Amino acid sequence: MKTRENTIAINKADFQKIGYELINTISDFFDEIPKKPITTSKTPKELQQLLEHSALPENGLEAEKLIANASKLLINNSLFNGHPKFFGYITSSAAPIGALADLLAAAINPNVGAQILSPIATEIEKQTIQWLAEFIGVSPNYGGVLVSGGNMANFTAFLAARTAKAPKDIKENGLLNTSKQLLIYCSKSTHTWIDKAAILFGHGTKSVRWIPTDTSNKMNISILEQTLKEDLKKGLQPFLVVGTAGDVSTGVVDNLEAISAICKTYNLWFHIDGAYGVPAAIIPELKKMFQGIKEADSIALDPHKWLYSPLEAGCTLVKNPKHLIDTYSSHPEYYNFSLTEEGGSLNYFEYGLQNSRGFRALKVWLALQQLGKNGYIKLLREDIELSKYFYTLAKEHPELEAITQNLSIATFRYVPKNFKENNTYLNTLNETLLDALQKGGEMFLSNAIIEGKYSLRTCIVNFRTTQKDIKECIEIIVKEGRKTHLKLQTNKH
Ligand SMILES: Cc1ncc(COP(=O)(O)O)c(C=O)c1O
Repeated sequence: MKTRENTIAINKADFQKIGYELINTISDFFDEIPKKPITTSKTPKELQQLLEHSALPENGLEAEKLIANASKLLINNSLFNGHPKFFGYITSSAAPIGALADLLAAAINPNVGAQILSPIATEIEKQTIQWLAEFIGVSPNYGGVLVSGGNMANFTAFLAARTAKAPKDIKENGLLNTSKQLLIYCSKSTHTWIDKAAILFGHGTKSVRWIPTDTSNKMNISILEQTLKEDLKKGLQPFLVVGTAGDVSTGVVDNLEAISAICKTYNLWFHIDGAYGVPAAIIPELKKMFQGIKEADSIALDPHKWLYSPLEAGCTLVKNPKHLIDTYSSHPEYYNFSLTEEGGSLNYFEYGLQNSRGFRALKVWLALQQLGKNGYIKLLREDIELSKYFYTLAKEHPELEAITQNLSIATFRYVPKNFKENNTYLNTLNETLLDALQKGGEMFLSNAIIEGKYSLRTCIVNFRTTQKDIKECIEIIVKEGRKTHLKLQTNKH
């Protein structure tokens, strides 16, 4: 082969043309999001028919057409979590700077597993992690690693906790040789990652002690301590307590200070799942809510939630990053990564589960600079204010029952006028209503079950939402609520 026809490369002129067209399409898209339905009403079958090729193409196709077609396909058939009336689950409107950052990161394509393969990207990730620690108000000595999201951030910390607190030979001998069962403690409202972690790392879900919550949905601290004592008496070995800073259903922050005190008394690892709520610790008037955060051995947070980063970006912070190295570092013969002229080098493959790693730090790093601390404080405060506004409007409306409001999450349910209390019917009504609202495309919210009540739930991590959107959403919910109630009543007779 004397010369090589490089068919996968795109020449400079074509790249510019295709790229500019794509950027134009994306800027029009950003502009038009508010006018679009949030989601498509097409069925999976209809969507499958839009994908022209049922088989892998035999021969290559033109890049320009491919990018144009893909843009059209996505813009016409997606669910837009960037829509100002999107409040479902915990998925934010993504900052546009993140889209540019991802393009740049993919173009340079550093492998941020090893410093030698990603000289400046490694430094940027390191700075991003230090800034995230500063953002939430813990010591800049916390170290960590960026991961794909909340689950991975929590998994990464879980294993570090086990290495630190379990018998020293656990890495070599695994769980089979531990004489005492290792136990994990968390509140009833902890996210499902904890079960996955217990399964993934071989403990089994029976090793998780789900501690009941008190009336404000925080972990009941006296039951936590009582359970610990009983387990110790039985000869079992507690090693980890998880506090949640912003639970996924209602946004409540556990009493972190009290959990930290218990962890100190019983020599346990204190982990905070702050995937959703911990960025709010930057707001001066909310600092008290997060008291105890500085004592955490590890913290999970999720830039792709309340820092408005595009998916995917999560982060594990560890007070003493040595615990990550102890857990994840290995040195195969074919790695020549360890030393620089100044000493040891920073290789992120030694800090977590991934080996080759993308440059997800860039989008987080750039957004942190675009907004600065004050910009974030303003946006987060506004999201919280809007959530309180949602709750107030629900409270004032005769056909809505406001249930909870914490951080930027409000819960409520539709109750028809002159309705005689029947919780089972209200649960069915609100579940059917949620379905109709999610499919309707006018707004998007999700649900929470609160003390047996099937509730509608809005989580505002959305810099595009305004008061007008909220007012309109209340009207949409009530209009759909009436329709759904009528339909259910008609079907009954
Ligand atoms: C408190 C909490 N932890 C963990 C997760 C999981 O995060 P991810 O979906 O990014 O994996 C979520 C997701 O909503 C969450 O709210």
